[in-house]
Amino acid sequence: MMRDVIPAHDLPSAARAPGKCILFGEHAVVHGKPELLLAIDLYAQVGVRPAPELLLNGHRSGARGHRYLQSALARLWAGEVPIDVTVASRIPKASGLGSSAAFVAALATTLVAAHGGAPRAVLAQEAFTIERSAQGVGSPGDTSASVAGGYLTLNSQSPHQGVALWDVAADGRRWGVRRVADPGWTWVVAYSGIPKDTGPLVRAVSARFAGEDGPALLDRFGEVAEDGIRAVAAEDREEVGRVLTRNQELLRAVGVSHPRLEALLAAAGPSVLGAKLTGAGGGGSIVALPREGREVDLVRRLARAGGVPFVVRPAPSGVELV
Ligand code: PMV
Repeated sequence: MMRDVIPAHDLPSAARAPGKCILFGEHAVVHGKPELLLAIDLYAQVGVRPAPELLLNGHRSGARGHRYLQSALARLWAGEVPIDVTVASRIPKASGLGSSAAFVAALATTLVAAHGGAPRAVLAQEAFTIERSAQGVGSPGDTSASVAGGYLTLNSQSPHQGVALWDVAADGRRWGVRRVADPGWTWVVAYSGIPKDTGPLVRAVSARFAGEDGPALLDRFGEVAEDGIRAVAAEDREEVGRVLTRNQELLRAVGVSHPRLEALLAAAGPSVLGAKLTGAGGGGSIVALPREGREVDLVRRLARAGGVPFVVRPAPSGVELV
């Protein structure tokens, strides 16, 4: 059972946090529309120990330019002893699978623990504030998934919105984060090998949403996400597959697909009920719902098409001290 509170722990300490995969609603969630995502069983582990000076994996150079590390230290470690931060992660960087959110959640957990601990809801806000100040834009979906684990909805108005976990705020906007039941499915994600930069993609899509047809387009993202949330609650795999495909059409329309992602989606074709890009797009990864018993075939197809596939299950609990 996941503890609602991160307990106190002196340095040295370490924490492990899961990455994430967005099923429905990326980009539109930044503007208050619903999202459904899950924490996945690819983890980042961060260790923190006192050191003569600030180090990242034992080196001085990496720590200096690391936006997320610097942002976390500015927020949670100002005036404290220098530390060596070590990272071991199975989540490919800049892949849309939540590597930065998992890093931030795990690092923030060790720092918060050294200050006497904190409720998970406080940690979710801290992790989001840190990620947002490093990235400049974004929603709290990724960081909340790393903190909470399981399946989460943001901003859903549907009867299937789930049980309230916490609200997270930034710049006058609030996102309601809720937990929904795990339908017990296995997902396949595949990294295209093309790293993406979330900030510029979110800004470009925001400009698109500010255009004449922007509000109507945003509403369509919202409807698709609510349909997806309903279909997952109903454990209707065929319908979830169809909604994934509809969401991909909208993501294409706002210009965040990529030829490499389209090649992976085409390769997945016969083995899946539906598939789409996941995360900011412009590279990064796809997520696919395999047809029953076709997981291995799907992994082969995606690898042959040049992807780096992972068979993933939901990470049942969020970040923990280890
Ligand atoms: O950084 P990524 O690829 O995991 O994308 C996050 C999803 C966005 O909706 C595009 C941004 C956000 O913070 O919600």
